[in-house]
Amino acid sequence: MTETVHGNLTGLRDSLIASLAQLYNYEMDAACFLPRELCQLLARFTGEMNRELAIYVTRDGEIVEVCVGTDRDVELRDWRLRRNARRLSCVRCIHTHPSGDGTLSDVDISALKGFRYDAMCALGCKDGEPTFAQCAFLLPAGEVLLSQPQRWYRLPDAEWMNQIAESDRLIDAEEPRASAQTRERAVLMGIESEPSLKELARLAETAGAEVVASFLQKRDKPDNALFIGKGRAEELSRQCQALEADLCIFDEELTGIQVRNLEDLLRVKVVDRTTLILDIFAQRAQSAEGKLQVELAQLQYRSTRLIGQGLVLSRLAGGIGTRGPGESKLEVSRRRIRERQNLLQRKLDEVEKQRSLRRKNRQKNEIPVVALVGYTNAGKSTLLNAMTGAGVYVENQLFATLDAVSRRVETAEHTPYLLVDTVGFIRKLPHSLVSAFRSTLEEAAQADVLVIVNDGEAEDVLKQHDTVEEVLQELGATRAQRIEVLNKCDLGLASPYPPGAVHISARTGEGLEALRERIASALQQSYAPVTLFIPFAEYSALGRLRPLGRVMNERHTDTGTELTMLLSSEDAERWAKYRLPGRECDG
Ligand code: GTP
Repeated sequence: MTETVHGNLTGLRDSLIASLAQLYNYEMDAACFLPRELCQLLARFTGEMNRELAIYVTRDGEIVEVCVGTDRDVELRDWRLRRNARRLSCVRCIHTHPSGDGTLSDVDISALKGFRYDAMCALGCKDGEPTFAQCAFLLPAGEVLLSQPQRWYRLPDAEWMNQIAESDRLIDAEEPRASAQTRERAVLMGIESEPSLKELARLAETAGAEVVASFLQKRDKPDNALFIGKGRAEELSRQCQALEADLCIFDEELTGIQVRNLEDLLRVKVVDRTTLILDIFAQRAQSAEGKLQVELAQLQYRSTRLIGQGLVLSRLAGGIGTRGPGESKLEVSRRRIRERQNLLQRKLDEVEKQRSLRRKNRQKNEIPVVALVGYTNAGKSTLLNAMTGAGVYVENQLFATLDAVSRRVETAEHTPYLLVDTVGFIRKLPHSLVSAFRSTLEEAAQADVLVIVNDGEAEDVLKQHDTVEEVLQELGATRAQRIEVLNKCDLGLASPYPPGAVHISARTGEGLEALRERIASALQQSYAPVTLFIPFAEYSALGRLRPLGRVMNERHTDTGTELTMLLSSEDAERWAKYRLPGRECDG
């Protein structure tokens, strides 16, 4: 337990601070709610400072914290002594109102609910004297019992202490609420644009939160300490309290210091866009590889945000921003993070080895790859299902699919190819995710044909398209041929962008024939089987040749290697001198 006086101590005399610290030694009878002498003491300090003063008292009558506020409010703190977040905290908050008004405010009541204090009591103080007090207690189902304001010298101590015991009993007996009602209440804060904020709301909902408000503050340059300005942050703090928010989600990446400062000020959990996306990925990861990738990405992101050696992240509660994939718990100390990162990386390398082995086998089996890429929720999985009957999970949520799913398909001319569904892209896709998911996304990067699925329902389809383009560039997926598709045309909102796109509806099947034809002709155009002969003397050429296309057949003769492979027309021309014409069909 700390013996320091907290809160706004600026300008206070040292002797006064020392007297305030003496409150920690105040001996209180456990049966008494608030001794009269203590009332007078609190009122005297409040008058002297003209600031609010809060004390936190345990059921044993011990004062565990003293905190000074401004003339209008005081920092109400989370003082949970119990691990079960549903139960009462075992600590009551008693604070003064220097205006003389001893009634509880809305913010006081929401702090009572949020921090689950045993009781919340406001004591009015005027000219250094107490006036009257009001007390509130929690009841089951989030109800609050409010006492009548009472003269300070006539406080019903026994009645109030009994009510704490009664509230505790009732709340303990209460059935845990259905999960729908216990969704975390989120307030969103954006600085970019409305569409980006709307998308953040969808992300928050996908992560299981209930969005209770969203605010936009246009700002060119974020504040180093608080991201938004001090004044705005203070206003946001009041809004969070009044809305009974559990967390505040920022539409940008925050630094570790910003998160800590904001959590101190807002008194709710603070999560940034990247943490939110990582959290969704953590919930969605299905395959062993997906889980490893997400956990690694989470650790990478967290390790750059830990302040000081071995700092334990002081999360106000579990929930969004603290979840790891599957049952795994996120490690929080720097050293353990490093160890875990190394272990994960080793495991991932192993999985990646197997994956590239599978990829090689596939190349041997000469199947070209067509990858569906696009913004999250564009309809890629629905399209894969429509084209193949694959039964991939489809939901009107962001990132429904995390693992690359592939199905074998044939063109009308019976040319087989592999259709691959990839993870959806998103604006400000966390960098650590792109690198962690590199091996999965490489399926897309190394595809022969990219089908870029655009969401015909999205207001900002062009912006989404730019994002997809950026991620593809980052992955180095520039070689493949591209087919632009505008999906969800059944909704009748067809946009003229992107130009030349095949208009389809994955839901109704409209336009799918045209798309199949485009895929077939792209496959034919881009790659044709070519048979080459590399003599022993030029053996090193084989190493340069193999990565250029899928090897369909390889035969070693006495004088060299004969290989039939799918080559782009440019490469076929470049390697023309090794060509064995008329042998392509031997395959
Ligand atoms: P991620 O997994 O997030 O990348 O999403 P996705 O691109 O795979 O999208 P998904 O196939 O899960 O579809 C997202 C939503 O769009 C679902 O609610 C689908 O039912 C809906 N949807 C997909 N295609 C169409 C379509 O042609 N028309 C209409 N009206 N809705 C569609």
